[in-house]
Amino acid sequence: MELLSGKTALITGASRGIGAATAQMLAAHGAAVIVNYMNSKQAADQIVKDIEVKGGKAFAVQADVSDPAQIKQMVAKANEKYGQINIMVLNAGFSFPVMPFLQYPWEAFETKLTNELKSAFHCCKEVVPGMIERKSGHIIAVSSGLSRQPGFGFCAHSTAKSGLDAFAKSLALELGPDGIRVNVIAPGLTDTDATSNLPADIKNMIANHTPLKRYAVPEDIAGAILMLAADQSKFITGAYIPVSGGIQII
Ligand SMILES: NC(=O)c1ccc[n+]([C@@H]2O[C@H](COP(=O)([O-])OP(=O)(O)OC[C@H]3O[C@@H](n4cnc5c(N)ncnc54)[C@H](OP(=O)(O)O)[C@@H]3O)[C@@H](O)[C@H]2O)c1
Repeated sequence: MELLSGKTALITGASRGIGAATAQMLAAHGAAVIVNYMNSKQAADQIVKDIEVKGGKAFAVQADVSDPAQIKQMVAKANEKYGQINIMVLNAGFSFPVMPFLQYPWEAFETKLTNELKSAFHCCKEVVPGMIERKSGHIIAVSSGLSRQPGFGFCAHSTAKSGLDAFAKSLALELGPDGIRVNVIAPGLTDTDATSNLPADIKNMIANHTPLKRYAVPEDIAGAILMLAADQSKFITGAYIPVSGGIQII
């Protein structure tokens, strides 16, 4: 029996990186997946094709998930196609400049915070009512190890992701009585386009300081998301789970 058979999962930012690996992993375990993308149509279509070739169900939906109107349309399309959303993965990666606080322009700081939280807020506003009706649902927020541990130049990212953590914890508390679980996955350094510019010596240094002696690939994060999405973890909510090879032990 497949872990997610009969379930539908919406993954934001699923054209590349962690989101793409998550779409593929959840589909491989029986979920019908909605592959959200913003600019990378070709990549999103390819993810859908790869899933379908393996006998899975998927379709791609373009939406900028920092825009509430586009989120509404995306969720409406998903509901039209599959009837319901059982699993929501808040994953889209909002880019941000890496620079010390004193050089950080307020506008760039504000944009990062707003995008991260607006997206989570409005995605949940759209999917939670259906979950409440069905008295069941799983929301997984993709945060970062940097939400609890600062990194030089990452003040906007750390602040935005710690806001996301607090948002997820609040929803876990409020929505638990309706059978909805809300959890946070906190990846460590993961090999995606977002980290492709990081110098190799820094990546190797991080790998060397990691108990499991490497940094993550997107499938490592997707595996943890699968665990939380499956009913086998049905008593876990409000959790913050580092997926970092042990570099962040809490
Ligand atoms: N990589 C790491 O080391 C790492 C570590 C900790 C946490 N994370 C978190 O993991 C998540 C995924 O990161 P990643 O490394 O996989 O990023 P990535 O490879 O750069 O991919 C980013 C994804 O987000 C999508 N996206 C960006 N802005 C969007 C928007 N406004 N609306 C819809 N989709 C949007 C992109 O879609 P298009 O290409 O279609 O525009 C793409 O699919 C992020 O939340 C990130 O903060 C990553």
